[in-house]
Amino acid sequence: MASRPSHQLLRTAIRAAAPRVARSYSGLARKATISPISSSFKTSYRGIKTLDFAGTKETVYERADWPLPKLQEYLKNDTLALIGYGSQGHGQGLNARDNGLKVIVGVRKDGESWRQALEDGWVPGETLFPIEEAISRGTIIMNLLSDAAQSQTWAQIKPLITKGKTLYFSHGFSVVFKDDTHVVPPPDVDVILVAPKGSGRTVRTLFKEGRGINSSIAVWQDVSGKAKEKALALAVGVGSGYSYETTFEKEVYSDLYGERGVLMGGIQGMFRAQYEVLRRNGHSPSEAFNETVEEATQSLFPLIGANGMDYMYNACSTTARRGALDWAPIFEKANLPVFEALYKSVKDGTETRKSLEFNGRKTYREDLARELEEINNQEIWRAGRTVRTLRPEHKA
Ligand SMILES: NC(=O)c1ccc[n+]([C@@H]2O[C@H](COP(=O)([O-])OP(=O)(O)OC[C@H]3O[C@@H](n4cnc5c(N)ncnc54)[C@H](OP(=O)(O)O)[C@@H]3O)[C@@H](O)[C@H]2O)c1
Repeated sequence: MASRPSHQLLRTAIRAAAPRVARSYSGLARKATISPISSSFKTSYRGIKTLDFAGTKETVYERADWPLPKLQEYLKNDTLALIGYGSQGHGQGLNARDNGLKVIVGVRKDGESWRQALEDGWVPGETLFPIEEAISRGTIIMNLLSDAAQSQTWAQIKPLITKGKTLYFSHGFSVVFKDDTHVVPPPDVDVILVAPKGSGRTVRTLFKEGRGINSSIAVWQDVSGKAKEKALALAVGVGSGYSYETTFEKEVYSDLYGERGVLMGGIQGMFRAQYEVLRRNGHSPSEAFNETVEEATQSLFPLIGANGMDYMYNACSTTARRGALDWAPIFEKANLPVFEALYKSVKDGTETRKSLEFNGRKTYREDLARELEEINNQEIWRAGRTVRTLRPEHKA
């Protein structure tokens, strides 16, 4: 146990981290869906922010630049055709609908996503269509199929993306790795990216809380001269609070790298290795789990999120601080070659090819579920289930 940061400290940290975006946007959104759009509304920019990120100046675009009437006015002649209804389709689609934009969904008829879309209130023949029909009806084609499906369906989809439409992605994957995916957009359409930095479920919950997710935006092809502006508007439309400009390449490299690294693969590997050594040395499952996962997720990681690493260190005992300071560079050195190998594997397309092969299988859902069930059955996560029952908020 490192130490117990006081609840007061935690509360202060969380307050300090509270978002500065307008809190009322989703409430405003709900009202706006039933209010007529003001025709006298003027489309003026309030400006963008240039911020100093550790000595590097970067531009950040904020939702406040797009008050709802301006957003609705800007997109009043557009139909957002959301193709695919996985986690991003759900989050982005419902947010855009609540923001009063004209949205339709296109998915395989009677598939899992069709069923999900029906549950969320999309109406067959009005706002829910088979994929091809939705693309034909849309002006902004938001390709939110799984990355493997984007490649598999491209030959059917491409001819429907006609001149003047806008092609939108939430990942640079398909176009950047075109040698493997064969996704080459038609030359006469704008191609833009809005990539929320989080799961589609978070895209939705942050929006409903009146906050907004951080997103990356980028332009691959600007035919109209307005591609970037459209990306910024759509980022707000689907629920972003702040948008950071990048390129398709940088977005896909960093995204594939991050999720395989610290965000998912790395953290599972690190948790498991630490737990395993504790167990080999005679510690009980509960002790090993508490010292590895529970304290991390419930106590210390939120402090890093709120105010940074030094803040978390300072919230812990001097004994913990001394030891962590000594061991951090050792872990860094041991991990650097792994991260170098990972980045190379991302950039040279190895990760893309693996993903296309695996997720392109007919059995991709079952195959993924089988491997995830293996994780679920690892002792560390079985121990975790019992530990979680002891939390005050747990309901039997
Ligand atoms: N999830 C995230 O955290 C996240 C974050 C940022 C960006 N993104 C990006 O957002 C995009 C969508 O990701 P996602 O996670 O929301 O979706 P996903 O779960 O990867 O994909 C689900 C959708 O793809 C459809 N699909 C799969 N195979 C198909 C096929 N052969 N033909 C037609 N449809 C098929 C599914 O329809 P059925 O139900 O009919 O199979 C479902 O609607 C991707 O580019 C992803 O990289 C995801």
